[in-house]
Amino acid sequence: MCGIIGYIGKKDAFPILISGLKRMEYRGYDSYGFCVLKDKETPFLYKKTGKISEAEETLLDFKVEGSLGIGHSRWATHGGVTDANAHPHFDCHKNIFVVHNGIIENYKELKEKLIEEGHTFVSQTDTEVLPHLIEKYFEGNLEEAVRKALKDVRGTYGILVTSNADPDKIVAARFSSPLILGLGKDEFLVASDPAALITHTRQIIHLEDNELAILKPNKFFILKEKAPTFITWDSEEAEKKGYAHFMLKEIMESPETIQNATRGRLIIEDGSVKLGGLDSVSEQLKQIKRLVLVACGTANYAARIGKYMIEEYAGIPVEVDVASEFRYRSPILDKTTAAVFVSQSGETADTLAAMREMKKKGLLTIGITNVVGSSQARETDAGVYTRSGPEIAVASTKAFLGQLSTLAMLTVYLGRQRGMDVTEGKKIVSELLRLPGLAEKTLERAPEIEKIAEKYQNFKNFWFMGRKYHFPIALEGALKLKEISYIHAEGSAGGELKHGPLALIDENIPVVALCPDSPIYDKMISNLEEVVARKGKLIIIATEGDKQIKELTEDVIYIPKTLDLLTPILSTIPLYLFAYYIAVLLGRDVDKPRNLAKSVTVE
Ligand code: M6R
Repeated sequence: MCGIIGYIGKKDAFPILISGLKRMEYRGYDSYGFCVLKDKETPFLYKKTGKISEAEETLLDFKVEGSLGIGHSRWATHGGVTDANAHPHFDCHKNIFVVHNGIIENYKELKEKLIEEGHTFVSQTDTEVLPHLIEKYFEGNLEEAVRKALKDVRGTYGILVTSNADPDKIVAARFSSPLILGLGKDEFLVASDPAALITHTRQIIHLEDNELAILKPNKFFILKEKAPTFITWDSEEAEKKGYAHFMLKEIMESPETIQNATRGRLIIEDGSVKLGGLDSVSEQLKQIKRLVLVACGTANYAARIGKYMIEEYAGIPVEVDVASEFRYRSPILDKTTAAVFVSQSGETADTLAAMREMKKKGLLTIGITNVVGSSQARETDAGVYTRSGPEIAVASTKAFLGQLSTLAMLTVYLGRQRGMDVTEGKKIVSELLRLPGLAEKTLERAPEIEKIAEKYQNFKNFWFMGRKYHFPIALEGALKLKEISYIHAEGSAGGELKHGPLALIDENIPVVALCPDSPIYDKMISNLEEVVARKGKLIIIATEGDKQIKELTEDVIYIPKTLDLLTPILSTIPLYLFAYYIAVLLGRDVDKPRNLAKSVTVE
């Protein structure tokens, strides 16, 4: 979603702002803008719809001077995609400039009042009330005015403010929207995403809610002194490394993703796992009688598989919900329930809001998160990092595999606290160790999958289905196809087909079926026969060595045999490649699909 970048130091700010915004492009945006200040000169202000990368040469031709600036990439929420609605927004005298992520919920009433007081608005955004409020309170000191203005505001924000009326400073403030300070040599940066900082510095400070930072050319000040943390990601990890798209690179990283998630955590001799992030709550977890797993989108499908794993192997009842529903219904909860939040970014607004509600209710909260130092990672009582590294493509792929690997380890962790014996633990743990190699073998199927994608690229509708561990995978396969190819796709449990969707099946709607070797293989075969009987076309994911399946279709993609609960980690890979190749063939913007954002930081 929107990206924020600010720079103050000795270098020219403009190219740094451009490259910072480009590094956040993967999050999705529809317009962008900059404000660069130099001495008392008229500020350079530029706001435009479109993509920065397409206009980079023109931008650099502007030869903007000034070593203080702020920039923003906007993903429209309030007001259409127009130059005027792009950030930075400014006050009546074009003297105070603001970039903002989040939503000012009470902007309508604030705007009405400000208009009554004589302020003139030029955009349809919620953000524009901020520079006007700051103008209203400004008496020579920018941070004081910002502090006062924010008292009037209801909603979420990560903001940067700068002004020639109180020069040589950037004021940064946040509430429920991330802002990270980068501490360089003789320079400071501030961004909404660490990806924008790593080429400049690895010393960062996460700004907390209600904190305000003042950055000056050679010093910075925040309300509370905090120790810097260290980013472990490499800037190279966030490059395409020769792949045509980040999505393909990230799918190809599946083996390392599983390996990174499990490295140092599997204890073979003992059939157990070591999850250091849960040490502080391990005694509490032994007493837990029920779990709720809460997440959005792809992470929610990972949670659904986690439910099947934990119920089958750890014997704990698990409920799963999408965060945006969970928050607003009336779940029955008590202190014997722990809430587990699954999120790649750790910044998804719905998931964070649900997590905060559960904390208020006094529940034990656990995070399964990829981004180190994200809001979710910092605010949950304990948690496990999935260590998937930066995921740049909007469509989540490798992060899902990291989540599944982590949920499998959590299953062993909780299981071994309860009835799971050493032999059972060893079986899962040693198979987890083999899994990166099996993922490697699965990826070798890419050329076959590409051919199947060519064959099916022109169909307008797809049905995905699977049973048990593969029901959520069917939903994930359908989500991935629709999100990057814009083809309509739905998923269902295999057993549900005859309860309605079968009416749709004919030669025009291919069915992608997950039918690996499993205790319910025969049941799934019956569902596939139902499709064949209606002349439905089948693409089947099956286990190597299954010859019988070839009687149903010529389009079979084989995956290696593994344990039932770990099979989804392999069966997802062909679905990701299938969606990827179709989207490429259709000429879609694979890494940045329309209308979507990487990290959904608004409700
Ligand atoms: O960062 P999160 O894992 O919390 O994100 C949750 C969803 O927004 C995300 O998985 C979304 O569904 C992806 N676009 C799926 O590819």
